[in-house]
Amino acid sequence: MKIVLIGYMGSGKSTVGNLLAKKMNLAFLDLDQAIEEQEKIPVPQIFEQHGEIYFRKKETEALKRLLAEKEDMVLAAGGGTPCYGHNMDNIEKSTAKSIYLKLSIQALVERIRHEKAERPLVSSLADEDFPEFIGKHLFERTPFYERADEVVFCDGKTPEEIVDEILSSL
Ligand code: S3P
Repeated sequence: MKIVLIGYMGSGKSTVGNLLAKKMNLAFLDLDQAIEEQEKIPVPQIFEQHGEIYFRKKETEALKRLLAEKEDMVLAAGGGTPCYGHNMDNIEKSTAKSIYLKLSIQALVERIRHEKAERPLVSSLADEDFPEFIGKHLFERTPFYERADEVVFCDGKTPEEIVDEILSSL
């Protein structure tokens, strides 16, 4: 079985994905990491040196490649992955089960505030503009995220609790 975790930046896709993969005895893959390995530079540098459109093309290619692999896995998508090109169509057409890790705007603002520097889409925002940006951005992206097979609301839950919820939904 393939599981694809989707959700906004900071929603815990990598933490939950790692734990879920361990519990299911599956490989864990992170889409950003797959792109970094292929491009041999970190994601923020891909944005800086080649621009976002280049990154989105690489993201689409890496997603297609991983969805087509025979190996079962838990795959953590990037926050924007479902929202560009035909990526969400491709996830839906594949055999993978998609799970949206949903958090409130407030919870996301709290989490991402501390990691702004590593996130090219928000690194240049002033602190006071941050909540409004996240709110609008999440509003635009939610219709894509909500296409997931399962939605797990994650506010106030530990990664272990979220994994248990996912396991009981399979
Ligand atoms: C992005 C999220 C990031 C990474 C890139 C763009 C986005 O992944 O793919 O910086 O568009 O939301 P994470 O959600 O793993 O941080």
